[in-house]
Amino acid sequence: MIKIKTNGEKFKYDIYNIFKLFFTEIEFVSDIDYNYNIVVEKNNLKILYEDVEKVCDFDEQLSDKENIKRSLYNYISDKTGIKLPWGTLVGIRPTKIALNLMNEGKTDEDIVKYFKYHSLTRDDKARLCIKVAKTEEHFVNSETNNISIYIGMPFCPTRCLYCSFISDTIANCKDVVDDYLLALNYEIEAISEYVRDRGLNIECVYFGGGTPTSVNDEQFEKIVNKIYYNFIEGNTVKEFTVECGRPDSITAEKLYTLKRYGVQRISINPQTMNDNTLKLIGRGHSANEVIDKFNLARKMGFNNINVDLIVGLPGEGLKEVKHTCSEVLKLAPDSLTVHGMSLKRGSKLHQNTINNIHMKIAPLEELNAMHEVTSKLSEQLNLKPYYMYRQKNTVGNMENVGYSKVNQECIYNIEMIEEKQTIIALGANAVSKIIFLKENRLERFPNHKDVREYIKRIEEKVEKKIKFLNELYGAK
Ligand SMILES: C[S@@+](CC[C@H](N)C(=O)[O-])C[C@H]1O[C@@H](n2cnc3c(N)ncnc32)[C@H](O)[C@@H]1O
Ligand code: SF4
Repeated sequence: MIKIKTNGEKFKYDIYNIFKLFFTEIEFVSDIDYNYNIVVEKNNLKILYEDVEKVCDFDEQLSDKENIKRSLYNYISDKTGIKLPWGTLVGIRPTKIALNLMNEGKTDEDIVKYFKYHSLTRDDKARLCIKVAKTEEHFVNSETNNISIYIGMPFCPTRCLYCSFISDTIANCKDVVDDYLLALNYEIEAISEYVRDRGLNIECVYFGGGTPTSVNDEQFEKIVNKIYYNFIEGNTVKEFTVECGRPDSITAEKLYTLKRYGVQRISINPQTMNDNTLKLIGRGHSANEVIDKFNLARKMGFNNINVDLIVGLPGEGLKEVKHTCSEVLKLAPDSLTVHGMSLKRGSKLHQNTINNIHMKIAPLEELNAMHEVTSKLSEQLNLKPYYMYRQKNTVGNMENVGYSKVNQECIYNIEMIEEKQTIIALGANAVSKIIFLKENRLERFPNHKDVREYIKRIEEKVEKKIKFLNELYGAK
């Protein structure tokens, strides 16, 4: 545990974030029992560690916040020898910075310099942001009446070790699945009526989770049918995605359902193609099953299949990632999403760490090389980076990048990250976002997280959600 004392009350969150990039357990203390004393002064930062004081003078061109973050980062980086690719940048949406600078007329070189000067970000990461921002620019929404719809299925075949999504295994929820689907149907009908009533244009429909395909074939057909007739038919929807995700939940019947209702984009996610790791992370499917289900979907005519991978899984190093990439290369997916593994609170992996059951995670140099291999894979597949976001507590402080064939970008993913389009989200734990474009304002409206609570209080929730949407679209 790293104990920090500081007089910089206003900057505590920034100080915490920088320490968190290098250390797992951190707490603030107010007494003499500290490891670090961080003293914020008018023109400098003093760092006291083991009776040695280091004074870092502020750069007048930077804000106090930037100066504090930069001083602390440089200090800890020198001490540990660790240099992080994003430097002091901890925000989830770095492409927003690039997009804003582009809109101000800045050149690529200006933007790279900006990232380096303000947050010590490596050139290659800044250039990745620029590349992604240039693709996103063509898609980002600019019309208040354009919306997207998200529908969530909060069940999974098994719970993966690293996952913190509020989803339960389908076996544990047998008694509530039917009721959940009924409540979801109710919400779908009410929101569909609202959308029609207000003349809103649905741009994308995204059915995710959890795992939408974790229910049985019959239940799956009924819910996709409901989504189709309420949101797709008669509308000019550009994109209908279903995140099948777990290969062990995919059947020929479900793929047939998806085809029948015009789903264009699906995900079949290996995370890794190493059977030992798949077992360790509790995925409940083998690498061969990924190949079989992928080939089946191809045979049935799906020509926009995404594959999710995670870099930095426990026990995996460069050799394992190279193997995964060579297997994925053979599958030739149309898009690829690479996630840096994040140690999430609420996951079994995090719980294990707290209980001192440590699993081997690759060191930083190797993690860098592993990400490089996935970036090479995207080039071999002729896929371009089109969206990106970052998560907290990612091993090696990396990013998540979506690559796709040109014109097969997932527009929903872009709208989600850039937050310029209202997304009405349905289902347990789904969070709607309404965007007041003119005021550049965003408001969130969460549904109940707990499935049983969602079922019990659906009518009241829908009523409140409609009132919430009326703030933007006006009451009738
Ligand atoms: C919302 S999840 C649902 C996907 C689907 N249920 C599946 O597992 O295939 C979307 C993606 O997030 C990624 N993910 C989930 N937990 C993660 C974690 N702790 N660190 C990094 N990526 C994670 C995985 O790649 C996963 O496919
Ligand atoms: S990673 Fe996917 S399948 Fe695994 S628990 Fe999370 S949502 Fe469910």
